[in-house]
Amino acid sequence: MRDKSDIAKQAEELREQINRHDRLYYVENAPEISDQEYDDLFAELEELEEQNPEIVVPESPTQRVGAEPESELGKVEHVATMLSLDAVRDKTEIADFLDRLREAVEDSDVTLVAEPKFDGLSIEVIYEDGQFCRASTRGDGQKGEDISHTLRTVRALPLKLQDTGREAKELAVRGEAILPRSSFQAVNKARVERGDKPFANPRNAAAGILRRLDPSEAEGVRFAVTFYDATGIGLAEARGQWELLAALRDLGLPVIGERTRCGSLQEAEAFHDEMQERREDLDYEIDGIVLKLDARKERENLGQRSRSPRWAIAWKFPPRMGETRIADIVVGVGRTGALTPVALLDPVDVGGVTVARATLHNAEEIYRKDLRVGDTVRIERAGDVIPEVAERVPQPGVERSGPFEMPDCCPSCGAKVERRGPLNYCPAGIACPAQLVARLVHYGARGSMDVEGLGEKTAEQLVERDMVQDIADLYDLSVEELTALDGFAEASAKALHDAIHARGEVPLDRFLRALGICHVGADAARRLAMAFGSLQAVKEASRAEIEQVAGIGEETAQSVAAFFDEERNRDVVGRLLHAGVSPQAIEQLDQSLKGRTFVLTGTLERWTREEATEEIERRGGQVASSISGNTDYVVVGAEPGSKQDEAKEESVEMLDEDAFAKMLG
Ligand code: IVH
Repeated sequence: MRDKSDIAKQAEELREQINRHDRLYYVENAPEISDQEYDDLFAELEELEEQNPEIVVPESPTQRVGAEPESELGKVEHVATMLSLDAVRDKTEIADFLDRLREAVEDSDVTLVAEPKFDGLSIEVIYEDGQFCRASTRGDGQKGEDISHTLRTVRALPLKLQDTGREAKELAVRGEAILPRSSFQAVNKARVERGDKPFANPRNAAAGILRRLDPSEAEGVRFAVTFYDATGIGLAEARGQWELLAALRDLGLPVIGERTRCGSLQEAEAFHDEMQERREDLDYEIDGIVLKLDARKERENLGQRSRSPRWAIAWKFPPRMGETRIADIVVGVGRTGALTPVALLDPVDVGGVTVARATLHNAEEIYRKDLRVGDTVRIERAGDVIPEVAERVPQPGVERSGPFEMPDCCPSCGAKVERRGPLNYCPAGIACPAQLVARLVHYGARGSMDVEGLGEKTAEQLVERDMVQDIADLYDLSVEELTALDGFAEASAKALHDAIHARGEVPLDRFLRALGICHVGADAARRLAMAFGSLQAVKEASRAEIEQVAGIGEETAQSVAAFFDEERNRDVVGRLLHAGVSPQAIEQLDQSLKGRTFVLTGTLERWTREEATEEIERRGGQVASSISGNTDYVVVGAEPGSKQDEAKEESVEMLDEDAFAKMLG
């Protein structure tokens, strides 16, 4: 029998080795051992700790599993406000920025640090006495969500800092959790196989996985982390950004590798262009560069706006493009029966995302852009936006195929297609398999009933095998029946069964949306829910009464009334209620904003646009899409559009997020 203290010592040595290899891999980019050798070391430590549980310490690399929070993520107050950045695309605006800096520091020589602008999830991590203590998202800048339980599982993040003898008791570091492209593809592949919807881009994926209550998905994913800022720390000797990054790195934290110092527009531009050129070769997404005044002391002369410092700016890259060929144009059938032409493309990499299909919206759009099978086209993807066929690239001398024609019959069920305005519809309703599949998926989608696991693949099988004829049938499926589906085992079948039955009480607007009534999206559903208060009242409302609701047009009113008039729909709704679904009225608040009209622009941190609208409407206010003589306030979020300028011109009162929050109380 070995001495206990020998065992503890051996475990500590293994931990140090593992930490060292993590650092070599994630911080230094210079691994010394293979993945296999690393795994062996890890297994050895695990075994040792398993046999001697008393030697386990919380910062051991084996303890990277976080306990799941109970019902929702906790809130964490940031040490100091987490600011955002002003973002520009134009070189002239960078020149103006430099002029402002020179003026403020009263010196024509300024030193800037240029860094890539990472497109990940911004995070704050707190170390206490060198030990990982807590991690949170940016949230509204003041308070974020506690994601310690998932971030703990990220190997790129040290649980213990290097001892440099100068770290503060509490260290708050800020940076970005990033999902490398390679991991992103693996994550999406696994999701598709499970029948879940793939994430739209690596940033959404990072946020989606790290903000989940359950840390198990994060455990299996290789994340990268990069830090670019720190506050409330004793790194006093760091005079500026450049030294700060070096100090963070000395502590064993991964920091930005691609950084440079520059002092002129030309130098900044050279870095911008270089990063833009290298962008596609990097394993992570960047969407521009960030220029920061290096010296801390000089920053004080500049100060900050409410959400962003005046000493830094983001210089964004132009939208991404790619050229490819339309291999085919196929027609899909949506939830409401609308026929949508989709271009199948020769796969092309557009800024790191492989694009193989793009919606063409409707036949008129195809004629307007004059797109045909075989054409070479330019694909554009701006930020988050789903790839679009921007235009045809004429190929002189190449013969083209004939113009595209919308089919006369539904490609799914063969019913004769009806034309309504620019759109074509299959009139068969849920007798059409494609429409039923789409309705099931819509019912289970986020923002509707949020049934995890009810993805397209699963819905297709349920319809193909005749297991459901409408959405209410979902509630009659047994675990055994679900186990018989491809890709399901008993555990996953039970999980889906539970997810279907989990949501009893559901806000009325989400329920209305989930029903998939034509023209009733999130916005109309919310308006209806607020105006009528209960499902019963919506059901009984006449078309004329529905039309009275602000923001509900004739077509929507007609569609809602017709939906509840139909025997079959009433039956489905009745069975849903019988199965335990219980729509809840949205609580009305004091009418403090009665008669006030708001316009929203830019991205808010605390609310999606829909949520902000709901907050305003619950208080009696209104939201308009454009500025007019009636506009009382413009709420300005990050990266606002031209509406901000318009508001300035029209002298409409502008509210930043904090002022808006205050107004809501
Ligand atoms: S510095 C006070 N540096 O971009 C300055 N931010 O649009 C605070 N970001 O919220 C940020 N790369 O999440 C900084 N090299 C970088 C960055 C970066 C990405 C993110 C960050 C910030 C957002 C602003």
